[in-house]
Amino acid sequence: MGHTTPTAKALYDVIARRRDVRAEFTGAPVADDRLQRVLGAAHRAPSVGMSQPWDFVVVRDLTTRQAFRDHVSAERDAFAASLPPERRSTFDKIKVEGICESSMGVVVTHDQERGGTHVLGRHAIADTGLFSTVLAIQNLWLAATAEGLGVGWVSFYREPFLRGLLGIPEQVRPIAWLCLGTVSHLETVPDLERHGWRSRRPLADAIHHDTWRA
Ligand SMILES: Cc1cc2nc3c(=O)[nH]c(=O)nc-3n(C[C@H](O)[C@H](O)[C@H](O)COP(=O)(O)O)c2cc1C
Repeated sequence: MGHTTPTAKALYDVIARRRDVRAEFTGAPVADDRLQRVLGAAHRAPSVGMSQPWDFVVVRDLTTRQAFRDHVSAERDAFAASLPPERRSTFDKIKVEGICESSMGVVVTHDQERGGTHVLGRHAIADTGLFSTVLAIQNLWLAATAEGLGVGWVSFYREPFLRGLLGIPEQVRPIAWLCLGTVSHLETVPDLERHGWRSRRPLADAIHHDTWRA
């Protein structure tokens, strides 16, 4: 049996503790050096051809956050209306955002034009640019968890609305609104599992050997 190291154990522990947070934000301010460390971790993500296609818009302004929250609320209602009754009653109990309760929003954007036309490694798979930005988000999420902060990914929005709200240029995509901030605690079980929406499938079902079917 292989042994793990304290460093690996600490990392696995952070990965296991990471949660998508909606209801546990306290709204207390986050010290600047803490925020810088978290954004620094995001900025250390790997990126195709070293293109670093991400940017981070830190949104503290409450009026802006309220405008986004209202938009998200309308999108949530539209999704709810599309559900059959049984799913609808489960979904109704689930909180999908903590936009105004968190300490701030961090909107992570993606610029597919960053790095010019000859991005090393992107010629065959254009999405590798997007994959890079998503890796920055995961770094941010894990670093925040290690710092004792919470993160909640909000995707109930239309890109043109968020682009307009924050003055994001036309060629840049807003990939995520991340609610970031101090929390009372992190739940040990994902909200969607706790509310009976959907559970994590067994690892063994996700591992294949040599071919897809095996
Ligand atoms: C791309 C993406 C978009 C998501 N959008 C939302 C969202 O709009 N609202 C929400 O409450 N959670 C959102 N989540 C969080 C997922 O519901 C959550 O990660 C999943 O249920 C597992 O829970 P955990 O992150 O606590 O382990 C999103 C997660 C991802 C990766």
